[in-house]
Amino acid sequence: MIANPSRRGFLIRGSAALTGAALSPSAFAIAQRGSSFDPSRPAAAAGRLSIGGDLLVSRLGFGAMRITGDGIWGEPRDGKEARAVLRRALELGTNFIDTADAYGPYVSERLIKDALYPYPKGLVIATKGGQVRPNAQEWVPDGRPEHLREACEASLARLKLEQIALYQLHRPDPKVPFEDSVGELAKLQQQGKIHHVGLSNVDPEQLAKAQAIVKIVSVQNRYNVADRQSDDVLAICEREHIAFLPWAPLAQRAQAAAAPDPRLATLEAIANERHIDMAQATLAWLLTRSPLILPIPGTSRVDHLEENIAAARIRLSRQEMERIG
Ligand SMILES: NC(=O)c1ccc[n+]([C@@H]2O[C@H](COP(=O)([O-])OP(=O)(O)OC[C@H]3O[C@@H](n4cnc5c(N)ncnc54)[C@H](OP(=O)(O)O)[C@@H]3O)[C@@H](O)[C@H]2O)c1
Repeated sequence: MIANPSRRGFLIRGSAALTGAALSPSAFAIAQRGSSFDPSRPAAAAGRLSIGGDLLVSRLGFGAMRITGDGIWGEPRDGKEARAVLRRALELGTNFIDTADAYGPYVSERLIKDALYPYPKGLVIATKGGQVRPNAQEWVPDGRPEHLREACEASLARLKLEQIALYQLHRPDPKVPFEDSVGELAKLQQQGKIHHVGLSNVDPEQLAKAQAIVKIVSVQNRYNVADRQSDDVLAICEREHIAFLPWAPLAQRAQAAAAPDPRLATLEAIANERHIDMAQATLAWLLTRSPLILPIPGTSRVDHLEENIAAARIRLSRQEMERIG
């Protein structure tokens, strides 16, 4: 994973912690609209993305799945570090956090509330519903309208929010007509429980079906330098100005594979030439790939978070992108 020992030169240290004054409750609003984008913070170097026309976020977010226990089940081994990661993400200028009720389950959302409530104005907490965890091994889609309503209301309570800024259908449920699941999210939006609707793990046809029912502002699919299966969905997102949130942005599975993906090998060579860490190189590839991409790298460690956010300022050249292919 570590491409070069000098990678720590890229770490951004000593960024002023949010002061007590900056964090005073009066400075915060439960309503998550407005912007907390701060151009002086490291994440700002990634640029900004407007989600749904009114959520202005820094284009490097944080994925809060890894702050739970092993196998995304139960409490984290180090709860103090998990809360520190969340607070540090905000200090470094990230104002977009992705989570889901299924992470833990419930643990990730609860830790976000414990660590960050009252929330700074403009912080976007994007959560998801539509997937349940009967045990540590299983992730089972549940897209029944009644489940989605219950899940959304439970997330609102857990996160202590009056409205969820971005609520995403975690995964289409093959047992439930997709239109019924999306239709329920549209109802939740009409009732003010959800501000914007997003999708996850969808193909172009599902995206089009959902768009016929409700405005879709984001798609979260697996995508990284070694996994381009969602190139077609990304192209639609670019055309229609829909935020694209690649999950597994760091391509860890591909990096662990016995036979290295040639694109990953080329990126590693570039990382070595530039004296940057491989995690940073994978994020730089995504940030360069499309202005609609908002990576949400996840970690349980403050040092990894700092490395990842330091990638906000790295872009690959056209020649480097062509070399990778
Ligand atoms: N919609 C979906 O179906 C779906 C599925 C999966 C994930 N997601 C979302 O996407 C986010 C990211 O996905 P992901 O967590 O699977 O993939 P990822 O962010 O690409 O990788 C996370 C893994 O990389 C390690 N890592 C992070 N930064 C590192 C660094 N600088 N150096 C070395 N290792 C590092 C983490 O371990 P450490 O904890 O040790 O740093 C963790 O094991 C999740 O948090 C979640 O919000 C969505």
